[in-house]
Amino acid sequence: MVLPRLAAAALAGAGVANAVYSIATNADIKQTAADIAWDLLQYYHGNETGQTPGILPGPPPAGDYYWWEGGAMWGTLIDYWKLTGDDSYNDLIMQAMLWQVGPNKDYMPPNYTASLGNDDQGFWGMAAISAAENGFPNPPSDQPQWLALAQAVFNTMANPDRHDNTCGGGLRWQIPVVNNGYNYKNSIANGVFFNIGARLARYTGNTTYADWAEKTWSWVRGVGLMDDNYNIYDGGHVEYNCTDINKAQFSYNNAVYLLGAAHMYNYTNGSDVWRGRLEGLVNATINTFFPDNVAYEIACEEHMSCTTDMLSFKGYLHRWMAQATTIAPFIKEQVLTVLSTSTAAAVATCTGESNGRTCGFKWSTKTYDGSHGAGQQMNVLGAVSSLLIDTVPPPYTNNTGGTSKGDYNAGTHSDTFNSKPSPPTAGDKAGASILTILILVSAMGTFGWMSTGVSE
Ligand SMILES: *[C@@H]1O[C@H](CO)[C@@H](O)[C@H](O)[C@H]1NC(C)=O
Ligand SMILES: *[C@@H]1O[C@H](CO)[C@@H](O)[C@H](O)[C@H]1NC(C)=O
Ligand SMILES: *[C@@H]1O[C@H](CO)[C@@H](O)[C@H](O)[C@H]1NC(C)=O
Ligand SMILES: *[C@@H]1O[C@H](CO)[C@@H](O)[C@H](O)[C@H]1NC(C)=O
Ligand SMILES: *[C@@H]1O[C@H](CO)[C@@H](O)[C@H](O)[C@H]1NC(C)=O
Ligand SMILES: *[C@@H]1O[C@H](CO)[C@@H](O)[C@H](O)[C@H]1NC(C)=O
Ligand SMILES: *[C@@H]1O[C@H](CO)[C@@H](O)[C@H](O)[C@H]1NC(C)=O
Ligand SMILES: *[C@@H]1O[C@H](CO)[C@@H](O)[C@H](O)[C@H]1NC(C)=O
Repeated sequence: MVLPRLAAAALAGAGVANAVYSIATNADIKQTAADIAWDLLQYYHGNETGQTPGILPGPPPAGDYYWWEGGAMWGTLIDYWKLTGDDSYNDLIMQAMLWQVGPNKDYMPPNYTASLGNDDQGFWGMAAISAAENGFPNPPSDQPQWLALAQAVFNTMANPDRHDNTCGGGLRWQIPVVNNGYNYKNSIANGVFFNIGARLARYTGNTTYADWAEKTWSWVRGVGLMDDNYNIYDGGHVEYNCTDINKAQFSYNNAVYLLGAAHMYNYTNGSDVWRGRLEGLVNATINTFFPDNVAYEIACEEHMSCTTDMLSFKGYLHRWMAQATTIAPFIKEQVLTVLSTSTAAAVATCTGESNGRTCGFKWSTKTYDGSHGAGQQMNVLGAVSSLLIDTVPPPYTNNTGGTSKGDYNAGTHSDTFNSKPSPPTAGDKAGASILTILILVSAMGTFGWMSTGVSE
């Protein structure tokens, strides 16, 4: 797989006179990734006096970034360490990942409940399972462990409190009843649950996780969030029994299901069923999100109407597609060929202000587009470091190198945020609804949300 990468790099170099970065050799890739990681961390201030470890500046209006994107960044940097061997940021990662676990060690810290969706919690959970799979250094023994944290996130999501019969099942987007978006069942919330379940199944060999992954996949297909051609749509509202599906497609949805499907394929020893699903997802993902083999965020890129959240999706797309090839080698050639071309275009955008190497977002233009942010840096970092995917071992399992300690009961005593309140008395009701309205109004004024919920 060296050939397409070199060919793509040469092509990109030829077309771009003032390219700053090279990805021609593994040494070049590591140097390029190191510079991009450094620039990414200029957005992070959590290790400075008076700041909160783990989070990027925010949540809005205090800064651009919601709580979940910190978790996404640590996941990116855990992969960066595994792929390049550069441990410069491991202490920062450790501090951040442990600071945000919350009182019940399940990634639901009270500070961020106002924007706490299953997807938001799940991004931290996916970073934790990545740490276990990558053999990231284990936390001190008196601290929660990576596998147990991922199990805690999974168990809180599998809890009956988060499941009801509207739309025939599935997870809602938001966790607290009072959050705007509690009435929305969407692909990303169910996708992270599917992804973590599939990865825990492979890591531990426990069928309970695989059963949930199967069940979630069936629900997503049945309700129409994923169609027969593996297109994945954003979500639908419970008032309409999820028949009002918002058909916007986002690359992180495809990526989160694709990596989960690869784990199920591997967990089932290469079953025909999961092979077919994975193959279908790979095709659909490349067809929809890689015109001319360069990543393109189709729902928002043309007019640059992407939100801060959406500006980070390409990184997950590249990282998770690359990881899938390590456990489902039959997709390797098809996927890595596309990713190498896309990455060459991505690094060609890194010529921006203020240091002459800031990365942009519109990769297909192969020039800097004037936009900048943690998402843009994270995207290119994920793409560049993933070029090294074949130089590192596949994700560990408990039997093949993994040393993280688990806890099957983690997260079973977590706060449910009254997601199923006991029936109120008449007196309570009047008071409660006013409280709800107040909370909703203030929440809507103060916070935005990760998924689009475009039709909210
Ligand atoms: C925070 O971490 C960054 C990146 O490692 C480092 O450059 C910076 O010096 C650290 N700041 C403090 C106050 O420790
Ligand atoms: C929660 O907010 C308080 C006050 O700003 C801060 O001291 C604390 O570190 C925050 N905790 C987390 C987990 O973000
Ligand atoms: C609601 O949607 C689910 C899933 O698509 C379906 O099984 C169920 O029959 C629907 N219920 C009603 C009342 O239409
Ligand atoms: C992982 O393997 C260790 C050592 O073989 C074993 O003690 C432990 O129970 C296993 N954990 C899981 C979650 O299967
Ligand atoms: C995969 O193969 C192994 C070894 O033959 C077997 O122990 C395991 O049960 C199989 N897994 C599944 C899900 O079929
Ligand atoms: C996926 O695309 C490949 C190559 O174009 C094709 O051979 C295969 O039949 C497709 N598979 C599915 C499930 O669409
Ligand atoms: C499962 O993943 C391992 C790497 O951990 C790989 O060697 C093996 O070929 C994969 N299984 C299948 C059926 O592709
Ligand atoms: C598998 O996981 C479930 C759910 O966390 C747990 O209750 C069960 O004890 C586990 N099974 C084994 C054999 O460890």
